[in-house]
Amino acid sequence: MTSRPSIPIFSVSDGLNLEVEALEFYQGLSQPQASIASKYFYSTLGSRLFDTITLLDEYYPCRTEKLIFNRSEDSLRVHLPQKALFIDLGAGDCAKASPLLATFKSFAYLAIDISVTHLSRALRVVIQDNPGVKVAGLGCDFSTRLTLPAEVQQWLTANQANYSPRIVFYPGSSIGNFSPNNALSLLKQVHAICAEGGNGSGLLIGVDRVKELAVLQAAYDDSLGVTAAFNRSMLAHVNERFATNFSPNNWSHQAFFNASQSRIEMHLKSTDQQLVSWPGGERLFAPGQTIHTENSYKWEPGSFARLLADAGFSQVEHFTDPQGWFSLFWARA
Ligand code: AVI
Repeated sequence: MTSRPSIPIFSVSDGLNLEVEALEFYQGLSQPQASIASKYFYSTLGSRLFDTITLLDEYYPCRTEKLIFNRSEDSLRVHLPQKALFIDLGAGDCAKASPLLATFKSFAYLAIDISVTHLSRALRVVIQDNPGVKVAGLGCDFSTRLTLPAEVQQWLTANQANYSPRIVFYPGSSIGNFSPNNALSLLKQVHAICAEGGNGSGLLIGVDRVKELAVLQAAYDDSLGVTAAFNRSMLAHVNERFATNFSPNNWSHQAFFNASQSRIEMHLKSTDQQLVSWPGGERLFAPGQTIHTENSYKWEPGSFARLLADAGFSQVEHFTDPQGWFSLFWARA
């Protein structure tokens, strides 16, 4: 019997215990415009529903980003460093990054995700597909703060990855789920991590663009109702996590483009008058009143390039698809 090597999985505690998290959550529900943070979409069920969304005809971002990778592979090979440490932000099942390790001959891979539950299984597949690549996982809610803890630095040193160029990979337009100010703050932290890798290091990031309203609208309100189920599934998740008593069936999905903010907003709309309660509090929702659950900002390439420059990046390369729906940027640190 062969023994499987253990895969190092680290985690960063941001000091937010469940009580503090719960207080923030109850505060969000009590504001004049109630809100729930979009990170609560990603329960086991919610993550599966999101994977299903990416298979829908109407949800163009993932397949368009893939198309850009395919048509730009030669240019990417020219611009990106070979033999870099590959750092995957929001790695999930690692499926987007894994094939790129061979493309860029990366010898070490660090997968960062808010949920560590599936990281070791996903990393086993990465090793199978990329024998010889050193891999590690880091559980970290980088929507709050992104740093590489001492244990990760030690792992990098032990694997001689501390002083090699770094490619930070942030695909899928997940940056769109941050407000422009919060996006800038995250990009500055990413820049600091890239800068530690020295010459040639940079950020490879996918960004969704402003486009025809009907295309945007359909992507966030699909005909099969998968996005609606994704939106409502959050209520079951917070019931379990924070002891609220939401009835998901009493909430309908709403998605619209807010042009002045350049973002798709998702809300859950109360279908009736209903009382939602939680330990120590409650709120009466009127019919039609909403809970704001997500923002998905859509960028113009020029504005996003300026944001990258403000975060400290220089020499930005831009790749896109024939319709100009999605952008991929390579930004040197
Ligand atoms: C994860 N994120 C980039 C998705 C988006 O498009 O903003 C989440 C999503 N929400 C509804 N559909 C997909």
